Amino acid sequence: MSQEKVIVLDFGGQYNQLIARRVRECNVYCEVHPYHMPLEKIKEMNPKGIIFTGGPNSVFFDDSPKCSKEIFDLGIPILGICYGSQLIAHMLGGEVKDAPTSEYGKTDVELDNTSLLFEGVSRHTVCWMSHTNYIETSPAGFRITGHTPVCPVAAMECPERSLYATQFHPEVLHTAEGQKMLANFVFKICGCAGDWKMDSFVERAIDEIRQKVGSGKVLCALSGGVDSSVAAVLLAKAVGKQLTCVFVDHGLLRKNEGDEVEAVFGPDGPYDLNFVRVNAQERFYSKLSGVVEPEAKRKIIGEEFIRVFEEEAKKIGAVDYLVQGTIYPDVIESGLGKSATIKSHHNVGGLPDCVDFKEIIEPLRLLFKDEVRRAGTELGIPEHLVNRQPFPGPGLGIRIIGEVTAEKVKIVQESDAIYREEIAAAGLAGSISQYFAALTNMRSVGVMGDGRTYDYAVALRAVTTTDFMTAECADIPYAVLQKVMNRIVNEVKGVNRVVYDLSSKPPGTIEFE
Ligand code: XMP
Repeated sequence: MSQEKVIVLDFGGQYNQLIARRVRECNVYCEVHPYHMPLEKIKEMNPKGIIFTGGPNSVFFDDSPKCSKEIFDLGIPILGICYGSQLIAHMLGGEVKDAPTSEYGKTDVELDNTSLLFEGVSRHTVCWMSHTNYIETSPAGFRITGHTPVCPVAAMECPERSLYATQFHPEVLHTAEGQKMLANFVFKICGCAGDWKMDSFVERAIDEIRQKVGSGKVLCALSGGVDSSVAAVLLAKAVGKQLTCVFVDHGLLRKNEGDEVEAVFGPDGPYDLNFVRVNAQERFYSKLSGVVEPEAKRKIIGEEFIRVFEEEAKKIGAVDYLVQGTIYPDVIESGLGKSATIKSHHNVGGLPDCVDFKEIIEPLRLLFKDEVRRAGTELGIPEHLVNRQPFPGPGLGIRIIGEVTAEKVKIVQESDAIYREEIAAAGLAGSISQYFAALTNMRSVGVMGDGRTYDYAVALRAVTTTDFMTAECADIPYAVLQKVMNRIVNEVKGVNRVVYDLSSKPPGTIEFE
């Protein structure tokens, strides 16, 4: 498909997909490729611009990742970020050294806003830095367009060759005017028109799926959450009745959720789908019995899911493909990129080694949550479904600290339903990205009526975030929290305390396990 695009060359940085996503926010299609992508292939793709990412290495070592020097002569604008900026300097004759002072975090940078890259950006602005090496001398022909007291080349450029570089990370939200800089790069420097929309993604994904699947049969793991719902509707558009959606009720869903999902995707709902509901509560509870370690729980739930899907696939017969609604933060946090494993998201790192499908299709793998919602809207999925708060595949299994039992599930379901009711009644649902009740494994002494109790503490969690990679605790009015607390201790048997989790992410995560 010939559409204007910018490509990101990945030198091992943490934020490579984030850069692509920020470019897509400018309505310019963007995808990430390895730094060693052959020059011929790059020419074939004919990108309007190229962005070099950051990376953990030092450019001055022989074995550190480098691209071909001829890339600078293609006439395609290049923006180097962090390691990428040092690479431009190093390869074109500048000097990169260990910095006498590393910079990490929000840093005041003085910019020359006669640069096209910084047009409309304040002269003094806060940027996100994270470097131990720095450019000491810029290459001949470059002019310095940004500095800090300890970083002489925080930005440099050679407009004649359309080469631009920033030591800081414009893609990170902490860089206050970073999005403006990226927009300047794609529009003013690369000359993009910005006419890409999520519908192009959807069309392209549908084409690719049709080509891959041919006349084969596909099974979609549908949880009723945003991601798998979008994946299911996308697949249904692509391959129609070759698709069967299997919804597994693992007994770890929110109150009444099983029936709600069935009402939307089942035979009485608006979609003409092959829909199978499997009630597997007992099976999951028995596998989880006695298991307390979070990763073990995730792996068990992930494996059991797959086993159920395999069984259902056998019943259908000759199913080659399994579709999952994996999205980009799942991939990153499961450690399948280069970063450490935080949690094995059940539809990614939680997969068993051996899976009885020819291939797993994950059409949303490169999208962030808000992009998935936009894709859902493009597909005509109703707003209330598209804007549902996320619910993790392992469900309440990871909202119950320690061993999962049917009794504990009931406590969380009831507490969570009350919490959701009160948040909605207070008109707060739209302003909080994710909120839920969890069960701490802590029991403590209380007094109710005239008697002693020894019951559980329920934790309330609420966060605001755009990308779910970082999050802040939501500022819920005390009166609302107090009402929720009152109702939970009065209405839910087995609970005598309610706590509110104030942690942000990092250092916490959104879910408890
Ligand atoms: P954490 O807890 O890692 O969560 O800060 C980030 C976002 O991901 C969701 N989450 C999951 N989603 N499978 C999923 O589909 C999982 O295993 C999983 N674990 C966490 C979580 O609800 C939050 O929105």
